Amino acid sequence: MKTTISNVKNHVGEQVTIGCWLANKRSSGKIAFLQLRDGTGFIQGVVEKSKVDEEIFKKAKQLTQESSLYVTGVVRVDERSPFGYELGVENIEIIHEASDYPITPKEHGTEFLMDNRHLWLRSKRQHAIMKVRNELIRATYEFFNDQGFVKVDPPILTGSAPEGTTELFHTKYFDEDAYLSQSGQLYMEAAAMALGKVFSFGPTFRAEKSKTRRHLIEFWMIEPEMAFYQFEDNLQLQEQYVSHIVQSVLKNCSLELKTLERDISKLEQVVPPFSKITYDDAIALLHKKGFNDIAWGDDFGSPHETAIAESFDKPVFITHYPTSLKPFYMQPDPNRPEVVLCADLIAPEGYGEIIGGSERIHDYHLLKKRLEEHHLDEAAYKWYLELRQYGSVPHSGFGLGLERTVAWICGVEHVRETIPFPRLLNRLYP
Ligand code: 4AD
Ligand code: MG
Repeated sequence: MKTTISNVKNHVGEQVTIGCWLANKRSSGKIAFLQLRDGTGFIQGVVEKSKVDEEIFKKAKQLTQESSLYVTGVVRVDERSPFGYELGVENIEIIHEASDYPITPKEHGTEFLMDNRHLWLRSKRQHAIMKVRNELIRATYEFFNDQGFVKVDPPILTGSAPEGTTELFHTKYFDEDAYLSQSGQLYMEAAAMALGKVFSFGPTFRAEKSKTRRHLIEFWMIEPEMAFYQFEDNLQLQEQYVSHIVQSVLKNCSLELKTLERDISKLEQVVPPFSKITYDDAIALLHKKGFNDIAWGDDFGSPHETAIAESFDKPVFITHYPTSLKPFYMQPDPNRPEVVLCADLIAPEGYGEIIGGSERIHDYHLLKKRLEEHHLDEAAYKWYLELRQYGSVPHSGFGLGLERTVAWICGVEHVRETIPFPRLLNRLYP
């Protein structure tokens, strides 16, 4: 019977055939161990000389890495392997013989692996990261659908710049100028006024000349936007959402987390409520920790975020940043207009900011003034201002960066491993 590796648990003691690739191989005079993968998982195939035709054993010993195969054998429980099963191989049919596969089991440099990303994705570790990424996406749809949100798709080609004009990818749109979306937020605000609670999940683009372990040029963002939600409501939703995706990965990706050697005790603690610290208190905390390079009004860099996060064992909200540091649309604190009703959520263990969010300005005149102060072209934002002319309501939202969140949950150092084909400074290949 044809099956997949993920399904062998339902066929213990039976003979099955699996379409697969040879990931790795070890053999001696009497036995060959084949590491087989089929996309759904990895399983060890055991070929014993005494149990198969001579010709099959010879074939097994000569198999080359990444050759594609149909392997037939009997499923056995294997308590020593984390996967729990192995295959007693009876027959091997070669579909396509690979030769000189470039990624060998030895160590390779990062640039070499990045040049071979189209093949590197096949490795066990990359496979595990992609499965966790997929679980995050699945759990995101589950969470927002259960909470009554409607998925809305904002455009990718836009005429506006929510997060500032310095990091835009410019393109021609026939005779007009257009930009690749930095964030779908402004459109999601319009959607929230039509549908109440909405979320988007899509690619976003930032022409940032940053070469850090947290920056991609193209990344995927989940952007919920909620009518009638104020600052505190927004934070509560965020901690519930982040806890849900972490707990879903723990539940559904235990094998992948094992492959990644992730310390899950830290993830198990990720349940509401999360701590909050104001920007003011964060500055004071940094001074106490010896960061004398930072003053009120400065933005935090990665070392600052890491130092703040170290004081907490769960993700932590940094709230009420100076108005001057944040985009034009954020609602100033009514009691203290020099700060805004915003929060960044900082992941533990040095993974930095995973969410940026805020309450939005809902007063027409204030928003118009803020657009002017930011020298933004009012004509391009006419429609956005109109949202404040027809039944404006308090509303809030946030954006979670998928890749940074995957990096944190997987415990991988660099975001380049968390997206199938990363777009980085100086890298558009493959
Ligand atoms: O903080 P940001 O810039 O916020 C926004 O774009 C808001 N308009 C979102 C909203 O309120 N709807 O970006 C949100 C998140 C960051 O916290 C980070 O996780 C991720 O997007 N992010 C990046 N991830 C990878 N590479 C980059 N260059 C990123 N820039 C932001
Ligand atoms: Mg941000």
